[in-house]
Amino acid sequence: MGVLSSAIRIRHDLHTRLTEARKRTDELFAIVREEALYDRPIAERHRIIFYVGHVESFDWNLLAQRAFGLQSFHESFDKLFAFGIDPVGGGLPTDTAADWPSRHEIYQYNQRLREDLDRAIARTLANPSEGHPLLLQMLEVAIEHRLMHAETLAYMLHQLPADRKIPAPKEATWKTTRAKSHLVDIPAGQATLGMRRADNSHFGWDNEMEGWEAFVPGFAIDNYNVMNRDFLQFMQYGGYGNRSLWSDEAWAWKQADKIDHPTFWRREGSLWMYRTMFGDIQLPLDWPVFVSHAEATAYAKWLGRKLPSEEQFHRAAYGTSDDSVEREYPWGNDAPAERYGNFDFAHWDPSPVGSFPRGASAFGVHDLVGNGWEWTRTEFAPFPGFTPMSFYPGYSANFFDGKHYVMKGGSPRTAACMLRRSFRNWFQPNYPYVYATFRCVED
Ligand SMILES: [Fe+2]
Repeated sequence: MGVLSSAIRIRHDLHTRLTEARKRTDELFAIVREEALYDRPIAERHRIIFYVGHVESFDWNLLAQRAFGLQSFHESFDKLFAFGIDPVGGGLPTDTAADWPSRHEIYQYNQRLREDLDRAIARTLANPSEGHPLLLQMLEVAIEHRLMHAETLAYMLHQLPADRKIPAPKEATWKTTRAKSHLVDIPAGQATLGMRRADNSHFGWDNEMEGWEAFVPGFAIDNYNVMNRDFLQFMQYGGYGNRSLWSDEAWAWKQADKIDHPTFWRREGSLWMYRTMFGDIQLPLDWPVFVSHAEATAYAKWLGRKLPSEEQFHRAAYGTSDDSVEREYPWGNDAPAERYGNFDFAHWDPSPVGSFPRGASAFGVHDLVGNGWEWTRTEFAPFPGFTPMSFYPGYSANFFDGKHYVMKGGSPRTAACMLRRSFRNWFQPNYPYVYATFRCVED
């Protein structure tokens, strides 16, 4: 295939991927019952209806004027639906459902917006010599932004009561395991973090640049994620009441919000129940526990261990016994596929730890990618050589505040494209709704 025709193919793939990403968010909003569309499942977040407009207006605000010279056809909606990030330390939103436009008006806006953008994208992509020099990068941003919302919206809809949702087809039934964790020794060696800017064959966000090499001294890491069964023991030993396991900030949060068990758990008489996406089940003991960074840190401290650093995660996930060979994924260099892990929207909920032995790393560590993001003890900060993206300068830089921690890996609702080695996710330590789990290390 000639250079020109392959360039055109790559460009058309981007349009197809945007269309597929739209299907993901459409499918997600389709599980919300009509009468629940203006609900606010999480007090700190916007109402669901905001996101129905936001995932579209973001594309418009990014691309229409800048890439295609299109004029707005609905400026007030472009603005209203522009911002969708959790308030950090601010008060709770106070708007009412009546403050928002009707669903009909929003659907009309979305439809027109997609039609106008699609026409401009198809026209511009057909001719590689035309268009904004950063068009391909901007399309990647639009695709990944939407796919990230497809995931964080799932966290939000998880908190929406089951009777406000339309259940999806029956979930997979997993074989229960009596998996027993153990520590695996990881020998000292190199780990590559991030992505070289010069390697422009793949898209990466600004916080993934510049790529760099870390030397990681030897350490030991859990072969499985900490399970609900393990975390139950921590609770039975009084972990939530043991002041010495919590930082001042974590303790204050825990006291103020009366946190004494993971957010996904619910007590029913003498039983612990687990909130899955579409209803409660008895606590699945062999699933990875989903908890906040603060709870994960307290658990690790209880055992005299730590959360892994970002570098240690990389070493355990991508390193091999041959120090000159690193893998693209824990299982090797094959693209993500269903046999390697619980990710890419195949399931709504976790699977028992160790359900994907073919996805284990060279050192025999399981589920590093998929089945829940993994908390690290590393504060989210720029890599050396960081430069913010010119057309989205706040994407990462707004969060380099010492109040966010890096998460690696991916959850059942993380799109395959964001399972790449260099991808970094981050959250505040006290946000309990994320599909995030952890494992411990001994240095
Ligand atoms: Fe957004």
